[in-house]
Amino acid sequence: MYAWLVRLGAYCGLFTAPVVLGAALAQDYGDTPYVQTPQVVVDKMLEIAKIAKNDYLIDLGSGDGRMIITAAKRYGARGFGVDLNKSLVTLANRNAAKAGVANRAVFYERDLHETDITKADVLTIYLLPEVNLMVRPRILALKPGTRLVSHDYGFGEWPPDIELTMDAPGKPVGRDQKSKVMYWVVPARVAGKWVWQGPAGPYELQLEQVFQKLTGTLSVGGKRVAIDKLALTGERITFEAALDQGQHEFSGKIMNNSIAGDSRKFGAGASAGTASGRQAWSATRTELREPRFTDLKPGITAR
Ligand SMILES: C[S@@+](CC[C@H](N)C(=O)[O-])C[C@H]1O[C@@H](n2cnc3c(N)ncnc32)[C@H](O)[C@@H]1O
Repeated sequence: MYAWLVRLGAYCGLFTAPVVLGAALAQDYGDTPYVQTPQVVVDKMLEIAKIAKNDYLIDLGSGDGRMIITAAKRYGARGFGVDLNKSLVTLANRNAAKAGVANRAVFYERDLHETDITKADVLTIYLLPEVNLMVRPRILALKPGTRLVSHDYGFGEWPPDIELTMDAPGKPVGRDQKSKVMYWVVPARVAGKWVWQGPAGPYELQLEQVFQKLTGTLSVGGKRVAIDKLALTGERITFEAALDQGQHEFSGKIMNNSIAGDSRKFGAGASAGTASGRQAWSATRTELREPRFTDLKPGITAR
């Protein structure tokens, strides 16, 4: 246990004396010692993840249950938490009953590595960084659009979509009473060649993908055109392209090997098209490529 606390203390910028403080307030029940997320940080994590009534949450390493209980109480959401420690699980279920949400917030004594997470709309996590890395492949295999919010620690090279540092009064570890909150959306797999037809000939969009980050080229009738603001959030792709008829914004939903959405001309002459200026747009993937969902090994350069 002491070794884990030293490590958690070190991650938090702590060394000797504060470890003693951590030892008083944290207990080691498995991969990651028990340290409570302060309630203000729980509130911020749920706010950033935009929890809604229909969301199903899973908390990996649920401690006293505060994450799922708050989501159920404040947003009417449902979910479950798992923890290796039996007494924490008993406490969490008791806390859920006290809060009047036992029908929507349930806790199980279970190893997070053996927990089915495929039903999650939102995953909440406060685990050590290497434990996060162990779970990451399973998270990246979840349905695109699944949201992930983590307290303090990231997921290796997978860059968060949102990251902030906030005051965390009463936090039992760390020198400065601060917490980091990080948020990700599981990206669709969009790498490859996408084609569609338009007035100027075939459009060919070549996409490379590293986690949710895209780079790409677009050619229209065999001629390269500039693209900009290429972005992927879950299953939604957006970009802008400088076409002969003017600057266009494309937006679509990815469903395996097809994209369906719309395009909109903007800037000078933007009145063309439908009343809203939007026209239906769809594309088909004709060549599939694997996205890079792993950290780089030493000696390998990022594309
Ligand atoms: C840092 S605490 C976070 C507690 C709670 N989520 C919170 O934010 O207040 C990590 C929790 O994960 C639990 N834990 C560690 N390894 C686990 C594992 N393999 N499976 C399930 N729970 C685990 C610990 O018992 C502890 O309660």
